[in-house]
Amino acid sequence: IPVQSFDLVLFGATGDLARRKILPSLFHRFQIGQFSDDCRIIGTSRSEMDRHGFQEMVADAIRTYGQPGETSDDEIAAFVDLLHYTAVNARGDNGWQALGDLLRDDAIRAFYLSVGPSLFPDIAGRLRSTGIATPDSRIVLEKPFGHDLASAQALNAALRANFEEHQIYRIDHYLGKETVQNLMALRFANSLFEPLWNSSHIDHVQITVAESIDVKGRGEYYDKSGAMRDMVQNHLMQLLCLTAMEPPARFTPNAVRDEKVKVIEALNPVAPDQIARGQYRGPEGDSYREHAGNPASTTESFIAMKVEVANWRWAGTPFYLRTGKCLRARESEIAVFFRDPPHNIFAEDTGTGGIKGNVLVIRLQPDEGITLRTTIKDPGPGGMRLTGANLDMTFADSLPEAGRPQDAYERLIMDVIRGNQTLFMRGDEVEAAWAWADPIIAGWTDHSNDTPQPYDPGSSGPEDALLLMHRDNRRWRGIGS
Ligand code: BG6
Repeated sequence: IPVQSFDLVLFGATGDLARRKILPSLFHRFQIGQFSDDCRIIGTSRSEMDRHGFQEMVADAIRTYGQPGETSDDEIAAFVDLLHYTAVNARGDNGWQALGDLLRDDAIRAFYLSVGPSLFPDIAGRLRSTGIATPDSRIVLEKPFGHDLASAQALNAALRANFEEHQIYRIDHYLGKETVQNLMALRFANSLFEPLWNSSHIDHVQITVAESIDVKGRGEYYDKSGAMRDMVQNHLMQLLCLTAMEPPARFTPNAVRDEKVKVIEALNPVAPDQIARGQYRGPEGDSYREHAGNPASTTESFIAMKVEVANWRWAGTPFYLRTGKCLRARESEIAVFFRDPPHNIFAEDTGTGGIKGNVLVIRLQPDEGITLRTTIKDPGPGGMRLTGANLDMTFADSLPEAGRPQDAYERLIMDVIRGNQTLFMRGDEVEAAWAWADPIIAGWTDHSNDTPQPYDPGSSGPEDALLLMHRDNRRWRGIGS
């Protein structure tokens, strides 16, 4: 169904994110017919460029970064026909009048700030003071939303001075991933799991976002962040919230987000001995410190931690989080480990093979799907022997007619136009996550001798991460196995 007519203004339109993700995603939504004929995308940046130059740049970006598959030159030509361009100086007066003149009164206005966060307050202020932003306009922002609680609060205050919360769309692209939303469908559209979804039946949960890429090329940004700020405070936190939250009464933006905030507020502080930080160290030229351009860096490229959700449902069921760069494989999943049956009727000493334990694995990437490990009778001739077997569903195989999965950005941008904030972070949610993260980060920054443990590129992280689990008599699931 085509969405209502819109004017989408893209600040930072010549930047990396715009070319790699935002513009190709818009193209794919256009391609499947979600735009009405008069929708427009207005690129802006500081650079002077004419409309034709911008159209060429976007056509090139689609060919380079678009999804593989059928893309004809005619489709690209039709899409770039919707594009306009005008140079705007975010920190000065130039260009705002021209931008305002381009916009229509009867179309939805969305302002997508694909720029550094230091420009958010200026742009938000000018959009408002020039009257370009109307009470119905939407403003879309990319992370990072602050570096700590104080900066996040300042950023939110600057935004709220110019826009109402219902107009503000803070993107965490993990929320746009198919499986992340499927987690809500799995939990709340099935009767099978929710009765067991608590500490009486779940032993622990492992949330892993493993990446094989290193930080080469973006070391300067990354070194000021580290895995905790870059991934845990936002993406892993979202996965944790959706796994742990209470069922919202309705699938409405604020009902869902209220429940997520409650999870964050229930998190216990994490003691330093429940955290393992690592930094990859390869052969010359391939170490984190070289990629970061900081020979003495103590920033972590890997972190594992044990997190407790101190509420009625989860007391006694730890959540172990882990994420890192340069690991063995790109693999992200939520693994829910169920407790063993209360009594094993299959006596181990007769060599029955033992109960394997139920594990529900929700795979985010690479093969989106769900696996349930079960214990079954070994079909072989050895009598009543037990063995593990998986009930396995890969979405692409189970639902081939669904076609190419949507990229997270495709879904999120269209939700902005539809005015649906469910998959966007609310201001209080971001602040609550920083309020939890700040003291944890202070735990190591206040001790200058707290250096992350080295790990080999292509491994599954530092030794300390294994110990974190071993101490609790548990084991991480393998990465890339
Ligand atoms: C970004 C982080 O938000 O997410 C990156 O800044 C990270 O460091 C990326 O690589 C991971 O996203 P995805 O979708 O590839 O898992």
